[in-house]
Amino acid sequence: MSIAKPIDFEDRKVTTLRLLQMKKAGVKISCLTAYDYTIAKILDNAGIDLILVGDSLGNVVQGNDTTISVTVDETIYHTKAVVKACERALVVADMPFMSYQVTGDEAFRNAGRMMKETGCTAIKLEGGASVAPAVKRMTDSGIPVMGHLGLTPQSINQFGSYRARGTNPDEAEKIKNDAKILEDAGAFAIVLEKIPANLGREITEMLSIPTIGIGAGSQCDGQILVYTDMLGLTIDFNPRFVRRYANLQETVNNSIGEYIKDVKASSFPSSEESY
Ligand code: KIV
Repeated sequence: MSIAKPIDFEDRKVTTLRLLQMKKAGVKISCLTAYDYTIAKILDNAGIDLILVGDSLGNVVQGNDTTISVTVDETIYHTKAVVKACERALVVADMPFMSYQVTGDEAFRNAGRMMKETGCTAIKLEGGASVAPAVKRMTDSGIPVMGHLGLTPQSINQFGSYRARGTNPDEAEKIKNDAKILEDAGAFAIVLEKIPANLGREITEMLSIPTIGIGAGSQCDGQILVYTDMLGLTIDFNPRFVRRYANLQETVNNSIGEYIKDVKASSFPSSEESY
């Protein structure tokens, strides 16, 4: 009689299949964003399961108020750097606003470019029923797709605010329906952003693919945060779903202050630091 070997979820490259196995086994999925090689290398070495090159790069890297202006070329540039750093983490590239909404062909071509030019494993896009045909075409052709429901920042100008979504029965029902539609279209996981914890739990129980929460409660199959928020590099953004694990703003600020002092006092470099 052969006894099935238990899966070691830590051992090798994370795949979309591995994420499904993690959901089934009740092993939570850890996810963070990254936009460059150095940070991605640190996250990968630390054992993060999934790195999203989010269109939040529009805020974090480019200093914009919204994610709207991010382009496919910019996403490809950042994703290439992140992919180079990752030996284990699964890398997902975020499709920018209007790179998948205009026509099915354009969505398909852009997703293909992002996969071919970066070496990422999957793409992510926002929306439910309206993007399902694009999701189906991509997944039928070997492009793994991660969905994104609830608060969808690319629709900020449509909604006018970043308030929580799914807080009334109609909205909650629509998000649930959209989640099922995305699963049926072949998505391998769905990000649920800023929805009530109960709704996050309901959707997680309803789907066989993993849910990744950001402000969607603890019952999701995994969690994602923007790395600059959780490390305290961004201090002007304080939603309640962010837990700060460090105050790097303060650490960096103090270090830069020390460096300036040393340079002004000619105490840097020392003779040991000179040739
Ligand atoms: O762009 C992004 O960083 C995201 C995550 C916050 C889910 O979409």
